[in-house]
Amino acid sequence: MEQNQEPQIISLPRIGDAAPVFKAVTTQGKINFPADYKGKWIILFSHPADFTPVCTSEFMTFAKRESEFSALNCQLAGLSIDGLYSHIAWLRTIKDKIEYKGMKNMEVTFPLIEDIAMEVAKKYGMIQPGESSTQAVRAVFFIGPKGIVRAIIYYPLSSGRNFDELKRALIAMQTADAYAVATPVDWQPGDDVIVPPAGSCGVAKDRMETKEEGVTCYD
Ligand code: BEZ
Repeated sequence: MEQNQEPQIISLPRIGDAAPVFKAVTTQGKINFPADYKGKWIILFSHPADFTPVCTSEFMTFAKRESEFSALNCQLAGLSIDGLYSHIAWLRTIKDKIEYKGMKNMEVTFPLIEDIAMEVAKKYGMIQPGESSTQAVRAVFFIGPKGIVRAIIYYPLSSGRNFDELKRALIAMQTADAYAVATPVDWQPGDDVIVPPAGSCGVAKDRMETKEEGVTCYD
């Protein structure tokens, strides 16, 4: 930052906030976000630019794995500060020309949002000027079925994301919602979960003394 220059205020939605609303043009037509996906989980993710290698590897992987996310009632939506025609050309290049780690002819059928005016990127804090003032960092917003931001992960421009972790985090949140439980370190689907702490001495005593099948009480 230049000396005497006012620091730029970056807005960033927080966990528990309503997802900022926007209307946008995408490679799948116009969208009204998040209203169009009410009742679904959404993973809204940004990438720095079309036609760049790390982004291309991520898009091919997301295209390959989209069905795993839709099976979890989760809509994917990508975004970069590029125009619609760049997005279309890039997705055609990915489908027609790029082969990577056994993936080829990958068709991206989830929406890729045009954000040439940076309107959405600014609302979601995807521009981090210390990293780049013209490219969005690799942000991931998990938005729940009621339009509330549930988790946020940020990566720098240089680091491609781990899609196993995105899927694991989604399933962990869905499991927490469905069963009112928490998930311990490195939890994987099928592993033990954690029930809420005992709310009274009586419940704590019962838990220690009653041997309930399938429940382990450590302390
Ligand atoms: C890439 O996607 O390859 C990339 C984009 C911006 C900075 C570094 C890498």
